[in-house]
Amino acid sequence: MRGVAPGRVNLIGDHTDYADGFVLPMPLSCTTIVEVVPGDAWRVRTDLDDGACAFGLDDTPRGTWVDYIVGPLRELRGHGLDLTPLDLTVASTVPAGAGVSSSAALEVAVIRAALAATDAKLDDPTVARLAHAAETGYCGLNCGIMDQMAVACGAPGHALFLDCRSERTEQIGIPEDFCFATVHSGEARRLAAGAYNERRAAVEDAARQLGHAALRDAALDEIARLTDAGLRARARHVVTENARVRAAVEALKAKDPARFGALMTESHASLRDDFEVSTPALDALVGAARDAGALGARLTGAGFGGCIVALVPPDAAESWWENVRGACPNARLIELTGS
Ligand code: GLA
Repeated sequence: MRGVAPGRVNLIGDHTDYADGFVLPMPLSCTTIVEVVPGDAWRVRTDLDDGACAFGLDDTPRGTWVDYIVGPLRELRGHGLDLTPLDLTVASTVPAGAGVSSSAALEVAVIRAALAATDAKLDDPTVARLAHAAETGYCGLNCGIMDQMAVACGAPGHALFLDCRSERTEQIGIPEDFCFATVHSGEARRLAAGAYNERRAAVEDAARQLGHAALRDAALDEIARLTDAGLRARARHVVTENARVRAAVEALKAKDPARFGALMTESHASLRDDFEVSTPALDALVGAARDAGALGARLTGAGFGGCIVALVPPDAAESWWENVRGACPNARLIELTGS
């Protein structure tokens, strides 16, 4: 019995999910696989670390990858599932610390494996919500719902347009002439939970000051009412990024790669200047990707290192990558998706 879940790349819409906003992620072909057999105690073996580890569902968080196994199992138990001890084996091709949701992939794969072992069924959005509750509650990152929804509900070859307020999803087929490259900057993502949680607190503070339930409800001309310049910039990113996601969905449906690419590049500038989650390595890689002919490029995920995503000319993807690698020798191609 096993549970499987992929990594994801976010095409556009970062730091909008926890503002009840819009996002457009796409599943990658790398996956995390969790095999389970009944055991006499809870145990896990993994290629993420050496050896095996015993655990209990009432353990306090360790601050390691084991939390991404214990947390989801606790959520399943809280959901009423009758769990008996399992021996879990984890194997993953989703790069860790890259900003492509290795933790959400692990959480979702664990839930699917435990469901398979008990013959219980839950729909994909419910699996995503349980995984998300584990991440915010047990693992301690106050993240939005994007990653778990992308990983649980994404379909290969499709972008997932998600409204994070209603959790309504729309699968949008990637048109033939759209080719996305996910490239690691070579700089491990330092997702200091502290810096991430601080950004989220600022976004929530801005919404409160403007009298809205979430920044999703704010219009651009309201932002000027915020007296703190730093908070204004954070809010401007969220409001303009939400508009860019909706425009990008239109560009995808209209099969307009030039427009889609321009929105990606604007998104990067906003994440760099207004939201301040880029790094010199990510900026250099986005620049190199564009110099080599990408129609657009941006950091993807939380930022602070990790990956970029670029929209590259499908008939010249190989020479594009040779040029990018020449300019940024530490960069690593994770995946080329599309035609
Ligand atoms: C991380 C979080 C997501 C989202 C992104 C930024 O991946 O887990 O919820 O906030 O950062 O868009």
